[in-house]
Amino acid sequence: MIQKPNTLTTSFEEDTYKGLTAHPKYLLSKYIYDKKGDKLFQDIMQMPEYYLTNCEFNIIKKHTDEIVTIFSEEEQGFDLIELGAGDGKKTKILLQHLVEQKQNFTYIPIDISENAINGLVNTLSKEFPELKVEGEKGEYFEVLEQLKTYKSRKKVILILGSNIGNLLHPKAIDFLKKLNQSLNKQDLLFIGFDQKKHPQTILDAYNDATGITEAFNKNHLLRINKELDGDFDLHKFLHWEVYDPESGTAKSYLVAKETLEVHIKKLNLQIKFSQWETIHTEISQKYDDTIITWLANEAGLTIETSFADEKNYYKNYIFKKK
Ligand code: AVI
Repeated sequence: MIQKPNTLTTSFEEDTYKGLTAHPKYLLSKYIYDKKGDKLFQDIMQMPEYYLTNCEFNIIKKHTDEIVTIFSEEEQGFDLIELGAGDGKKTKILLQHLVEQKQNFTYIPIDISENAINGLVNTLSKEFPELKVEGEKGEYFEVLEQLKTYKSRKKVILILGSNIGNLLHPKAIDFLKKLNQSLNKQDLLFIGFDQKKHPQTILDAYNDATGITEAFNKNHLLRINKELDGDFDLHKFLHWEVYDPESGTAKSYLVAKETLEVHIKKLNLQIKFSQWETIHTEISQKYDDTIITWLANEAGLTIETSFADEKNYYKNYIFKKK
């Protein structure tokens, strides 16, 4: 019997060990995003099937005036804080408008990737020399805690891309509750939520014919091979997507096509897979107004207003503290 090593140092090692020794097996989707995973996600956002990015881009473009007016109602100016900023393509529409209107604000993108933050700050300072940017590297809540101690003016917190959809409802509520704790009365939360729609449209977005999403999902295994000295054979796993139109939950799996054994040296772990055994790798939750109202209520928030695209595929909501 192989013993759990007492040298699991990083949270990646710890979580991978836990997930692959659990029944049923699972892996946490946050670990997809190494350099290769980031690139694959950029490719996903360019795919015609992955409607989310375009929908949100169009919503922000169409409603820029209204959104910016709500953000900049306060006279003392505001801090625009973005959690998980990425390449900032959608945010740039808002930034440009705010800069043109000479609004008194500072843009504070927060990301755990130092690379992402530095890259964004660099391009922004070239594109918008007048913009005040303060990139912060770190975990969202740690940075929000720090900001609380030295920023007293109005905060507008952006979370785009339906990133919140990678959390099941209880975790999403915890996340919103924590955000709520860092809000004052006049502060705003601007969050994107992918909506329930024809189930086939959702399945297609997470199961493209070109295989980009498959490669993205399998990056879990590749990262374990690279960083933890594993020997997963990627060809022996199937990318599988399911969507439950009742709960609105899309789930990604990797399914073993045959009986196999995998060895992960750094974890001192030998794992057996029976044929058709699964690893659950990601959830991508879809919403409607009833669910959002319930989530907001549970987290002590109220919905100020919302913006949708023409097909009602996607919505951005503005929340305030109740
Ligand atoms: C980052 N996140 C919101 C994406 C989603 O839609 O769940 C990640 C993704 N997974 C597969 N395709 C895109």
